[in-house]
Amino acid sequence: MTTKCISSVHVRAARQPDLEEMLGIEQACFSNAPWDAESLTRYDCAVAEIDCIVRGFLISRELVPNYEGLGGEREILNLAVNPRWRRQGIARALLEYEIGRGGTLFLEVRNSNAAAQSLYKSCGFIEIGRRDDYYQSPSETAIVMRLK
Ligand SMILES: CC(C)(COP(=O)(O)OP(=O)(O)OC[C@H]1O[C@@H](n2cnc3c(N)ncnc32)[C@H](O)[C@@H]1OP(=O)(O)O)[C@@H](O)C(=O)NCCC(=O)NCCS
Repeated sequence: MTTKCISSVHVRAARQPDLEEMLGIEQACFSNAPWDAESLTRYDCAVAEIDCIVRGFLISRELVPNYEGLGGEREILNLAVNPRWRRQGIARALLEYEIGRGGTLFLEVRNSNAAAQSLYKSCGFIEIGRRDDYYQSPSETAIVMRLK
């Protein structure tokens, strides 16, 4: 897989002081039903910075541990990029950081979210199923995707 992220994107594990910027991005991206602070900090979180300011984040959790190098499984729960900083490789950089953890990755994405589906496909994810009425606000089918 080729990396197209711009050189100044820096991805690292999130820290407590990042929460305010993450909340702002979450609310800008998901105005219908944004996650609250408790939800954002409950799982593993990576942030992407440009000029030392958080521009996006990715939240994931372990589903199956990576015992003895067998791989394990993880799920991407949330991915969001500041609307003013899109199409600059920030989400791709976050996904590559997550992919670098190893193992099989799963995620769900709204049927109508063409931008995210395009992103995931460009990073190698494939559709493995659909879940009707998975989302609320508004109700919508989820596409289930897997990498590896
Ligand atoms: C989806 C989202 C995370 C993409 O973030 P981003 O930083 O702009 O994405 P990138 O710049 O890394 O894009 C990488 C690739 O993804 C695809 N892509 C990203 N946005 C796209 C769009 N609006 N339309 C079509 N393809 C898109 C393209 O293949 C792109 O490569 P290219 O720029 O060379 O064409 C961002 O639009 C976002 O935060 N959306 C709202 C929240 C959301 O939908 N999260 C996902 C929930 S499952």
